[in-house]
Amino acid sequence: MATTPSRDAVEPALPGHSHRPLASEGVGGAPQARSLGELLVVNGIEVIYNHVILVLKGVSLTVPEGGIVALLGGNGAGKTTALRAVSNLLAGERGAVTKGTIELRGERIEALSPSALVQRGLIQVMEGRHCFAHLTIEENLMTGAYTRKDGKPAVAETLEKVYAYFPRLKTRRTSQAAYTSGGEQQMCAIGRALMANPSMVLLDEPSMGLAPQIVDEVFGIVKDLNEKERVTFLLAEQNTSMALRYADYGYILENGRVVMDGAAASLRENEDVKEFYLGVGGADRKSFREVKSYRRRKRWLA
Ligand SMILES: Nc1ncnc2c1ncn2[C@@H]1O[C@H](COP(=O)(O)OP(=O)(O)O)[C@@H](O)[C@H]1O
Ligand SMILES: [Mg+2]
Repeated sequence: MATTPSRDAVEPALPGHSHRPLASEGVGGAPQARSLGELLVVNGIEVIYNHVILVLKGVSLTVPEGGIVALLGGNGAGKTTALRAVSNLLAGERGAVTKGTIELRGERIEALSPSALVQRGLIQVMEGRHCFAHLTIEENLMTGAYTRKDGKPAVAETLEKVYAYFPRLKTRRTSQAAYTSGGEQQMCAIGRALMANPSMVLLDEPSMGLAPQIVDEVFGIVKDLNEKERVTFLLAEQNTSMALRYADYGYILENGRVVMDGAAASLRENEDVKEFYLGVGGADRKSFREVKSYRRRKRWLA
C-alpha cells in the first residue's frame, strides 16, 4: 500500500492490455523511464456497431506527447474504428465504445463531443480527404477555424503557418477544391485540421490513392509539423512501410486486436512484419486501395 498509484502499477491488471506501453519497451523487457508524457491513453476498448457487431476487442495504445504513432493493419482490421472511438465519431456510424477507457492528458474523454475534443486540442482528419468540393482551398481551410475563440489575427497567423508548411495550398488558395489533385486535397484536409490549432491530430489513411512521391511529400510535412510545431500524430495506415519510415512507434491491428507493437525501427526489422506487411502482399493491397479510392473520389466529385 506504500506505492503511489501510477499507471505502471495499474496497467497490467486492466483487461486487454497485453502489450507493453510505449516508453517501457526496453531490451529484455526492463521498463525504462518515460521521457515523454502520455498524451493519449486508450485502455482495453471494445467497440460494437449496431449493438451486435463486435469490431474492437480490447484495444490498448498509448501516444506520447510529441510523438508520431502508427496504427497499422490490413483493410477491415479496425484502424478507422479505433480513431473514431478516440474522436467520438462512432455515434454517427451506429457504433459505441462498450468497454474500456480513453484518456487525454489524464482526463476521461469518452463522453465528450467531437467539438469538445477539438477545444481540448484533439482533431481527426477523416479517411478519404473530405474537402468541400465547391469551396476554394482557402475557404476549406477557414472552415477548420470555426471553433477558435482567439480572434481573427490569430487565425490569420495560423493560416499563414499552414501555407508555410503546405506551399502547394498557397498556390492553389483560390482554386475550387474539386479541381485540385488528390495530394492537394489531402493537404487541404490536414491543413484544415491544423486551422483548429490542435495539439494532436488523428490521421486516417493519408496515403490512400496517392502516388508514392506525393505520399512522401505529405508524410514529410507531417514529420515537419511534428518536429517544429510539436503536433502529436496518431496515424492509421495500410501503407506499413511508409508509415514506419515516419512514425516513432507502431501498433499492428488484426481483426480488432493489437497483435504486435514496438518502436518503428524494430517493427521494420521484424520478420513477421516483413512477411505480412512489407512483403509481396503489399502489392495486392495497394491495387485494392486504388480501386477503393477511385470509387470514393468519383462519389466525392459527383
Ligand atoms: N458503420 C459500421 N457498421 C458496421 N460495421 C462496420 C462499420 N464500420 C466498420 N465496420 C466493420 O468494422 C470492421 C473494421 O472496420 P474499420 O475500422 O473501417 O477497419 P480499417 O480502418 O482497419 O480498414 C470491418 O469489419 C468493417 O466492416
Ligand atoms: Mg480505415
